[in-house]
Amino acid sequence: MARHLITSAIPYINGIKHLGNLVGSQLPADLFARYQRARGNEVMFICATDEHGTPAELAAAKAGKPVADYCAEMHDVQAEIARGFRLSFDHFGRSSSAQNRALTQHFAKQLAENGLIREVTEQQMYSVADGRFLPDRYIEGTCPNCGYDSARGDQCDNCTKQLDPVDLINPHSVISGSTDLEMRETKHLFLRQSAMKDKLAEWIDSKADWPVLTTSIAKKWLFDGEGLQDRGITRDLSWGVPAQFEGAPWAGMEGKVFYVWFDAPIEYIAATQEWADKTGGDWARWWRTDKGADDVTYTQFMGKDNVPFHTLSFPSTILGSDEPWKLVDYIKSFNYLNYDGGQFSTSRGRGVFMDQALEILPADYWRWWLLSHAPESSDAEFTWDNFQGSVNKDLADVLGNFVSRITKFTRSKFGEAVPEGGSWGEQEAALIEELTTRIRAYEQFMEEKEVRKAASELRAIWVAGNEYLQASAPWSVFKTDPAQAAAIARLALNLVRLYAVLSAPFIPDAAEGTMGAMHCDDWSWPGDVKAALETLPAGHAFTTPEVLFRKIADEEREDWQQRFAGIRS
Ligand code: 2FM
Ligand code: ZN
Repeated sequence: MARHLITSAIPYINGIKHLGNLVGSQLPADLFARYQRARGNEVMFICATDEHGTPAELAAAKAGKPVADYCAEMHDVQAEIARGFRLSFDHFGRSSSAQNRALTQHFAKQLAENGLIREVTEQQMYSVADGRFLPDRYIEGTCPNCGYDSARGDQCDNCTKQLDPVDLINPHSVISGSTDLEMRETKHLFLRQSAMKDKLAEWIDSKADWPVLTTSIAKKWLFDGEGLQDRGITRDLSWGVPAQFEGAPWAGMEGKVFYVWFDAPIEYIAATQEWADKTGGDWARWWRTDKGADDVTYTQFMGKDNVPFHTLSFPSTILGSDEPWKLVDYIKSFNYLNYDGGQFSTSRGRGVFMDQALEILPADYWRWWLLSHAPESSDAEFTWDNFQGSVNKDLADVLGNFVSRITKFTRSKFGEAVPEGGSWGEQEAALIEELTTRIRAYEQFMEEKEVRKAASELRAIWVAGNEYLQASAPWSVFKTDPAQAAAIARLALNLVRLYAVLSAPFIPDAAEGTMGAMHCDDWSWPGDVKAALETLPAGHAFTTPEVLFRKIADEEREDWQQRFAGIRS
């Protein structure tokens, strides 16, 4: 049994995420986790809320709440929505946990002992109007790289360049809008990423099977321009992991916390510790190569803007600690999903947000569309037309129709049990052969985390069943040879069960529903396809299911298009 550690990038605590966020990390990670569990492997699937830093402080201030209360509330909101989308985390943690505080401080101390932390006295933006130093995200201005006029002090959302606030052209305070900013002296800790450059380059070079999107972004930051820079890992904030703590190898860092991007990825480990504290499980066998994690395969899922932090910063922390922590084996990154001719926009409420999506349709509809259109090789676009088309065709016409036709036919001619009689011939043999080839291809794509290809193979598997039913036409055969019609129905009813097993990683609710309708709880993955199609024996009772997927009407599509065009109410 293989062991898979799977992490999804941890969403910021501030606000509810949109569908573009979902398809860029949590959803494909869930697909992979569900698939690996279905194959009988041991899985630890971790996600959390990213609660520190300025986004949290700013959002709490806007909501008029103490930041700790705001985070606790929003964590519960995000956890509930994640359950709604059937995201099957083994643990959904919080980066503000005691475990993460201790572990973050541990790593910082360890890095300092290995000579990888520098204390830097530097000039930092001080807002006279606000009476405080401004951390990166409290400053906005024009990106020196691409000219985008709302670049943040830490990163440009337009070109993804990591920035320092001093790089910005025409900077202003996000708190007050004031441009009365001046440089004042302050002390910060820097992670000497530059000293790790060769080690990181060698490590990235050894990953020939990684998506080009991942390695190209990593290499850009390693080698372009001045190459990999040391990064400040402390900020002037009160909400976060305190940079001054008992046993710290430095002094004078009171009032500062670690940079959110320093502690966020450490939360992957800390969240596993949170899980262990809750369940009595053993976190170390997932994370410490000296405690059994050497046979773990670790896969991370994230959007492309997160790649620099996961290919360079976090590995610097892990490698630089010189302790036997598990390093990631595969980084699956995604491009952006755009929305109906533009971008999703959290600030302008443009596009569909996770809570709204679940209000209008069940999770499976979204899961199917998003995964089958995952932005893998390039940015993708959500349009209501395309969504309606895919749902109505793939889910209602192909899969739903197959299930409904064969169950209704059987009920009307033989009653609600798998009929007996007849035998399988050439047509059935051909179908089994096609299914075998396709299922093996599907497995391959799932192992490779080729999400779109896996979806299209699954669709082809559904189509094969429909075509078989169409060609074998049991409703006509029944008139002259009822026993043969029974043999066809027997195969097709077993195919309904097999579809539930194969489709569950994509559409878990529909899979559960169909499995229930087949009065079966045998979820075993098909090795030999013929044997899998003999699972339900003659006489096995079933219940004709309700409509599996309903079609989206044109009026609904138009209504939703209007409703999600902008400004969230
Ligand atoms: O981009 C984001 O939403 C970040 N909160 C992702 C953090 S992933 C990690 F480092 F844990
Ligand atoms: Zn830019």
